[in-house]
Amino acid sequence: TEKGAVMELLDQNTEVQLVLQVCAIRGGAIRVLVDELKPIRPRYKVLDVLTREPVYERLRLDKKEENSVTLGWGVSQYQVRIQACPLLLEVLCEGEVTVTLNQKSRLYFEVLQDPPEMRPLTSVDEEEDPTGLWREKFKHFVDIKASGPSSVGVDLRLCGFSHLYGLPEHADTFQLKDTSDGEPYRLYNLDVFGYDIHSRLGLYGSVPLVLAHNTSRTVGVFWLNASETLVDLQRMSDGVPSSDLQRFSPPPAKRRSLQPHTDLIWMSESGVIDSFILLGPAPAQVFSQYAELTGYQAMPPLFSLGYHQCRWNYENEADVKEVDAGFDSHAIPYDVMWLDIEHTDEKRYFTWDPRRFPNPIHLQRHLEERNRKLVVISDPHIKVDPAWSIYCEARKSGHFVRDREGGPFCGRCWPGVSCYLDFSSSTVRAWYSSLFALEKYKGSTEIMFIWNDMNEPSVFDGPEKTMPKDAVHYGGVEHRELHNLYGFYQHLATVEGLVSRSHGLDRPFVLSRSFFAGSQRLGAIWTGDNVATWEYLKISLPMLLSLSVVGIAFCGADVGGFFRDPEPELLVRWYQAGSLQPFFRGHSCREMKRREPWLFADPFTAAIRAAAQQRYRLLPYWYTLFYDAHTSAQPPMRPLWVEFPGEQDTFSVENQYMIGSALLACPVTDPGVTEVKVVLPGSSEYWYDVQTNLFFAGGRTLSLPVTLDTVPLFQRGGTIVPRKSEAGSCSADLQKYPFTLTVALDSKACAVGRLFLDDGHSFGYQDRKQFSLRRFSLQGGRLVCCSADDAGLLDPGCTVSSVSFLGVKNRPSAVTTHISGVEEICRSVQYQEYKHLLLVENLNLNVGKDW
Ligand code: NOJ
Repeated sequence: TEKGAVMELLDQNTEVQLVLQVCAIRGGAIRVLVDELKPIRPRYKVLDVLTREPVYERLRLDKKEENSVTLGWGVSQYQVRIQACPLLLEVLCEGEVTVTLNQKSRLYFEVLQDPPEMRPLTSVDEEEDPTGLWREKFKHFVDIKASGPSSVGVDLRLCGFSHLYGLPEHADTFQLKDTSDGEPYRLYNLDVFGYDIHSRLGLYGSVPLVLAHNTSRTVGVFWLNASETLVDLQRMSDGVPSSDLQRFSPPPAKRRSLQPHTDLIWMSESGVIDSFILLGPAPAQVFSQYAELTGYQAMPPLFSLGYHQCRWNYENEADVKEVDAGFDSHAIPYDVMWLDIEHTDEKRYFTWDPRRFPNPIHLQRHLEERNRKLVVISDPHIKVDPAWSIYCEARKSGHFVRDREGGPFCGRCWPGVSCYLDFSSSTVRAWYSSLFALEKYKGSTEIMFIWNDMNEPSVFDGPEKTMPKDAVHYGGVEHRELHNLYGFYQHLATVEGLVSRSHGLDRPFVLSRSFFAGSQRLGAIWTGDNVATWEYLKISLPMLLSLSVVGIAFCGADVGGFFRDPEPELLVRWYQAGSLQPFFRGHSCREMKRREPWLFADPFTAAIRAAAQQRYRLLPYWYTLFYDAHTSAQPPMRPLWVEFPGEQDTFSVENQYMIGSALLACPVTDPGVTEVKVVLPGSSEYWYDVQTNLFFAGGRTLSLPVTLDTVPLFQRGGTIVPRKSEAGSCSADLQKYPFTLTVALDSKACAVGRLFLDDGHSFGYQDRKQFSLRRFSLQGGRLVCCSADDAGLLDPGCTVSSVSFLGVKNRPSAVTTHISGVEEICRSVQYQEYKHLLLVENLNLNVGKDW
C-alpha cells in the first residue's frame, strides 16, 4: 500500500487476488483504482468510489466515461474509508479484491491522503488476534472481517455495544433483537398484505443502517447494498456468546473480548461491499454523518405537515366535496384530500375515471378556494393496453424492465397484466417526470400532489409477490442487484416531475411506500397496510422510531388502521398518536366502513378534534423541527436515548419518544386504561404536563391518570415552544393567527427555543434567503427574541400575543416589554401560585424584530 505502487499484470485472463490489510489509519482514505479494464460481465459502473455526492450517483448505470472503473458481479471491489476519531485510533480491516483481466491492465493502489501516522504493515498472525491489543486498550471499536465474492458478507464486531437500533422496515421492537434463534433481519422490499407483528422479515422498504449506542458513545454502520440482505446480530454480554452462531465469526478461542459486544453480520446476495462506519460520538453526529452520505430530509411544504384524509376510495367528486365540508362543519382542521386507484380510468395512472371524476380541475379549484390540496396515486406498473398512449410510448422507447428473453417483463397488478417502468434508467426517469407537466397530465393543477404505492415493486403473480430477480434493467443489470432501490427510483422520478412542473419554484410532496437509504431527500414514507387493532397502534411507535433514526424523518402510519374496522376508542387513540407523529394521515381499505373523524359522534369526535387542533397549533414547532432535519439531520421524532444518551433507563423505552428536544410524547395505546406509566428521564430535569401545566421532577416513572381526552405530552424544562393561538381550518389559515410561546423553566430558570418561518411552499428559503429564523432565550428573568445565526432575510410580519412561563416560583413584581429601547408595563398578567404559572397576554411583539 505504498503510495502510488503499481503492479503490472501482463496476461490475459489473469486472476489476481489482492488482500488489503490496513493498519493504523487515522483520517485517511484508501481506494483501489482499476485502470484500462474491459470487464467480462459489466454491470456496475463505479464512477468515483469516494465522491462526496449522495451515494446513488455512484451507482449510476447509464453514464459512460472514458477510463472509468467498471466492476461487475463476480468481481468485487473493496473500499475502506475511515474517518478520524480520537476514540478509534486503530482499525484493522481486511478485504479481498478479485479482478479478472482480459487484456494487459494495471492495478493501482493509491493512498489518497497520507495518514498522519502510517505504521508499517505487520503480517497478521492467524493464531494471534491482532486486534487484541486494541480491544484491551479501547472501550469501543469496530472490527471488520470480509468474505466474498459469491455473495458479499462482512462480520463487524461492535465492542462495548449491546443496544442496537435501525434496519427498517420490520414490524418489531425498536431495539434490535439477538438473532441467534436463526431469524435474521431481512432487507428485501416486499408488498406484505396484513404484515405480521414481531417478524423480522422485510416489509416495503429497507435502510441498511444500524446504530449502536451505549452510555458514552453512538456509532453507525451503513452497509450500502441494494440486493437482498440478511443481518445477523449476536450479542455477548460478558464475553460469552448467546448462541453458537458462528457463520463469519472467529472460532471461540479467539473470542477474547473483555466486555459486552455485538457481532453484526451483513450478508448480501449481490453487488459490492461498500460499508461506512459513522463514528459519532454523539447520536446527533451520527445523524449528520449519515446525512452527508445519503442526503438530508427534504424540507416539506407546510401543508404536508397538516392532517391528510385518505380512503380507498372516495367515490366521486360529490363525495370528496362532502367530506371536505364535513371537516369545516365539525371544526376539524385538515389540509389534503386523497384519491386512491379508483379515481383513474381503469387503473391507467395519469387518467381520470370519466364517470366518477368528470371534472377534476373544477374539483381542485373547489379545494383550492378553501386553501386545501389534493393527492392522487400513481403506481409504477403500466397497464398493457395498446390503445393507451403512455403504454405505447413506453413500450416503443424500451422504457420497461425486461425479462430474461429480452422482451418487456409482464406481471399482474391492479390493472391486470402490466409492464414495469425501469426507473433505474435516468432516461426513463426523465420521461416519467415529464408526464407530470400540467399540460401533459390532463386534469391536474398545481395543488395536486402524488402518492407512489406498490413500488417494491408489487407483482401479484411474481415470486414473493415481487419482480423476479433475473428480470433485467438498463445496462444489463439484473433486478436482484438493485431490488431495494426500485421504489426509491420511482420516488425520485416523481419528485423531479413535480419540481419541473413548477419550473423549480415549488417544493414537491410525494408519499412513497417503498424506500431505501436516501429516500428522506425525496419526501414522506408510510408503513403500509397495518390493521385496526391495538397491537398495530402500539407497534407503529417503534416502527416510526426505526425509520426516524435512519434518516427517514417524514414518516407515519395509517391512522385508524388500514384493514378492519376500528372501535371508536381505538380510532381516537390512533388520532391522538398520529397527531404527534411526523406524517399524519387517516386511511382505510375499500371494504371497511366509513370512519371520517366525526362519524362516531361525541365524545369521540370531540377528542379527535382536540388532537387535530393541538397538531395545528403546534405546526410552527413541527415546521421548525423539519427545518432542523433538513439542515442538520436531527429527526423530529426521536427516541428518548437521543436526548438522554447517558441514561441507560431510556435505551429500551419504545412507547414514548421526544418530538424535537422539547416535547415528550407517550400516546395511549391500550384500551380502557385510566392510567399510563410515563418515564420522565433525567434526575435534574424539569417536566411540565402540556395539558395541565403541572410540574414533575425528572428521573422517575410517573403514573398519569388518563381519560379519553388525555394525550400524554410533557414539555421539558429549559425549552421554549412556539404555537399558534388558534388551530384554524388548515395550515394556510394559521397565517392569520398570532404566536404564543410556552417558556418552560429548567432548574436554573433558563430556557431556549427557535422558530423557522418562510412562505411554506417555495424554494425561496434556499435560493433567495426568504426565511426568518428566530431564537428565543430566557435567562436572568429576561426573555429575548433575536435572530439565530443564519437568520434569513424575510420579515415574517407576525406577532407574539401571549407568553406562558412554566415554573416561575415567585410572583413577579412587574412584567415589562422592551422594544427598541422603549419600556412598557404589561397589564394582562396572571400568576397562578399553585402551578407556578405566569401568563402574560395582550402582547403585540413582532416576531421578526428583536425585543
Ligand atoms: C396498497 C396500499 O398500501 C394502500 O394504502 C392502498 O389503499 C391500496 N394499495 C390501493 O391502492
